[in-house]
Amino acid sequence: MNDRDHPADQPAPLSRRNFLQQLSVAGAAAAVPFAAPGTLVAEAGDGEPPIPGSVMVTLRINGTSRRLEIDPRATLLDALRDSAHLTGTKKGCDHGQCGACTVHVNGRRVNSCLTLAIMHEGDAITTIEGIGAPGSLHPMQKSFVAHDGYQCGYCTSGQIMSAVALLEEPCGSSDADVKECMSGNICRCGAYPNIVAAIQDVRRHA
Ligand code: FES
Ligand code: FES
Repeated sequence: MNDRDHPADQPAPLSRRNFLQQLSVAGAAAAVPFAAPGTLVAEAGDGEPPIPGSVMVTLRINGTSRRLEIDPRATLLDALRDSAHLTGTKKGCDHGQCGACTVHVNGRRVNSCLTLAIMHEGDAITTIEGIGAPGSLHPMQKSFVAHDGYQCGYCTSGQIMSAVALLEEPCGSSDADVKECMSGNICRCGAYPNIVAAIQDVRRHA
């Protein structure tokens, strides 16, 4: 056996658990570099001619003021993904039916595809990138990993954002109550039993 044959020299196989942990912070790695809360981040368009018909809006996203040049018809979802480049928030139906686009606005969960970005001047927006990061996951992210609360992961950022908001809402204690409180978040993979288990685990230890 030569040196390269030694197991310690082989790349570690990507386990399902490692893969899921990476998914649970969907988009975090692709997020813009962190800036101190309250700082103004220069956005695309600075120093360039304004886009005809565009407007400027300032959003406080994950603790950082972001001045964005947007189409006045842009939804909050599109502003987050296309202008702020925070792609952890997903577009599923774009019609308020699936919950994949769930974010927090001033602490309350919102379907970001159903609201215009321009309506949120100065509002505090929290996305999946803002609640945890690789190495410092939110307890709900850890619980989704522990309970295999997803399969493909497309709905997961919305599920987790709803679940985190649910912790502050008057939701009953039973599994049926959690299912009702999470009924706006659809999972095409049918991971519902594990999602409920993940949420209940966090609630029990909160
Ligand atoms: Fe917003 Fe489906 S993308 S609810
Ligand atoms: Fe695939 Fe929910 S994990 S849609």
